[in-house]
Amino acid sequence: MKQDHVGIAVVGAGRIGTLRARLAAKHPAVRFLAVSDRDPARARALAEAAGADVHSGSNEEVIAHPRVSAVIVSTPEQQHTQPILQALELGKPVLVEKPIGFSLREADQILDTLHATKGELRVGYSRRYKECFLRAKEQMLQGRLGKVVGGMARVYNSRAQAFAILKRDPHATPVLDVLTYYVDLMCWFLEGNRPVEVVARGQHGIFKEAGYGAQDVTWAILTFADGAVINLGISYALPARYPTLGQSDRVELLGSEGTMIIDDDHLDHLLFSQKGVPHPYVPEHAVDMAFLGSNSAGDWAVGDFWGPLGNETRAWLERPRPARRCGCRCRWRSSAASVTPRIPTEDATWSPPACGGGTGRGYSTR
Ligand SMILES: NC(=O)c1ccc[n+]([C@@H]2O[C@H](COP(=O)([O-])OP(=O)(O)OC[C@H]3O[C@@H](n4cnc5c(N)ncnc54)[C@H](O)[C@@H]3O)[C@@H](O)[C@H]2O)c1
Repeated sequence: MKQDHVGIAVVGAGRIGTLRARLAAKHPAVRFLAVSDRDPARARALAEAAGADVHSGSNEEVIAHPRVSAVIVSTPEQQHTQPILQALELGKPVLVEKPIGFSLREADQILDTLHATKGELRVGYSRRYKECFLRAKEQMLQGRLGKVVGGMARVYNSRAQAFAILKRDPHATPVLDVLTYYVDLMCWFLEGNRPVEVVARGQHGIFKEAGYGAQDVTWAILTFADGAVINLGISYALPARYPTLGQSDRVELLGSEGTMIIDDDHLDHLLFSQKGVPHPYVPEHAVDMAFLGSNSAGDWAVGDFWGPLGNETRAWLERPRPARRCGCRCRWRSSAASVTPRIPTEDATWSPPACGGGTGRGYSTR
């Protein structure tokens, strides 16, 4: 049953934009879907696959479309800023893929506009929607670890995926693109306790030989305001046919009253196939042995998409909206079907966009 009148624009019709658009298209609250890509053929192909109402080679056109009430920005890392600014200025909530940008200048520009417009912006830190990490956060909320004095998170992946990321943006690095999830996770677990210092060291190898600046291995130690020390580490330089299809990670938290160890390496679900297992992120790449469940976004299974990116997209589409009336006959109402947990919102106080005097803009115009 349709729950609401949501119109979504997905900007960027690549791997992740395709997942977001297909999830939005299947969601009962979504009544209108538009997609754009700087390559109009990609926008058209995705519109056909997802059954979108509108497609365009112009981001501006779909973001400004009167039936679009919220925007998902799934462009590459250095192409996030303009669509976010346009959507916020039009009063439309935004979900943007991580990382928000590659420079503090871009991030500050976005945050300044967010605050000026009193808009809503969420960064797609989909690790928070992986069930093991949601369960971990609940233990932190219940205080079962006492005072956290330290911990670690490390993540490994094959160079096959790293080279696919570098093809998209040669300035991407495993730290900017992936370790950022674990910086976010640790800050979420230690909410209210800010990091105050970071020391890090990395080693160059195969990526440098291939002409990129990315390091093969990076280790960092973060010190938080209360003295907690957290070790973060990443290598995306494992051999190309290593069985990880995304992220093999391990997260540990050490507290005065408890210890939590999250084994997320995915060694517990092996698949070996002489026919080969296609890599979900890297076209034309296959492995013989796979750690199933290690694809960061999640997996298609039995006709639907399951996992962190599915949970995150659905939660964002269903997020509560404040009940609000405005001067004309339209009526803002909160969604009764919210299942949103505490989430990574970089928000100012949300207020609905101007209703357009009953022209159909916004979530719920009655
Ligand atoms: N949460 C997750 O699980 C997850 C996983 C992988 C990537 N990501 C993030 O998603 C984002 C996109 O990654 P991807 O793997 O989908 O990349 P991709 O290369 O598969 O897709 C990017 C698409 O954006 C288009 N594009 C480029 N510049 C554009 C512009 N200015 N306007 C409109 N379209 C433009 C490209 O033509 C391409 O179709 C990145 O920020 C990445 O870090 C998130």
